[in-house]
Amino acid sequence: LILTQDDLKKIAAYKAVEFVESGMVLGLGTGSTAKHATDRIGELLRQGKLSNIIGIPTSTKTHEQALSLGIPLSDLDTHPVLDLAIDGADEVDPDMNLVKGRGGSLLREKMIEGCCKKFVVIVDESKLVDYVGGSGLAMPVEIVPFCWKFTAEKLQSLFEEAGCVAKLRVLSGSGEPYVTDNGNFIVDLYFKKDIGDLRAAGDAILRLAGVVEHGMFIDMATTLIVAGELGVTVRNK
Ligand code: A5P
Repeated sequence: LILTQDDLKKIAAYKAVEFVESGMVLGLGTGSTAKHATDRIGELLRQGKLSNIIGIPTSTKTHEQALSLGIPLSDLDTHPVLDLAIDGADEVDPDMNLVKGRGGSLLREKMIEGCCKKFVVIVDESKLVDYVGGSGLAMPVEIVPFCWKFTAEKLQSLFEEAGCVAKLRVLSGSGEPYVTDNGNFIVDLYFKKDIGDLRAAGDAILRLAGVVEHGMFIDMATTLIVAGELGVTVRNK
């Protein structure tokens, strides 16, 4: 039996949905892993195994998915405290700090997942890293479009010592800038070395005036579910 990466994502997602109880206000994540969790919640609602769920979607994409599944939706204005959120991640370090935002939804994800009593992160084992940036993949930063080059250069020079390269995210077809749900751009930061203290790094990024938010989710996850070839593990913080 050979499991695909998508099978592993689904296994992690289904495991996370076991934490969902009727009556909960739920943060609905974004991305190919979280999609399975939202699908599963929709299925359990349809089967009558869950009821009175309210979903708070972390992107317009998830909003549409949840609508099509008939999951009742609301927002943070109405529900500023959530019981549980389930979402994927691009990287997870040994302290359960995350990099998120390859799907571009980091701002809404951080706003919503920062208000949850429980934040369950679901990944396949390929997402585990020794340190943030350790996969060689980007750490995304959402910035305002105004003078984006200026902000991108400032970001790059913040992490000069780590050999940082900052790249504006563009659409693969047209080469036009990728625009987030909030009308902003994304700069992807690539590091050659460990950037060290994540809080210090995050604070320095947020001090730049053109920055809206960064994709490091520091000390936010309360539960980590990892699906691998040998099975699924659940770790609590
Ligand atoms: C969306 O902006 C992201 O934060 C996703 O949660 C993250 O990129 C993981 O996505 P996949 O589950 O598709 O790998």
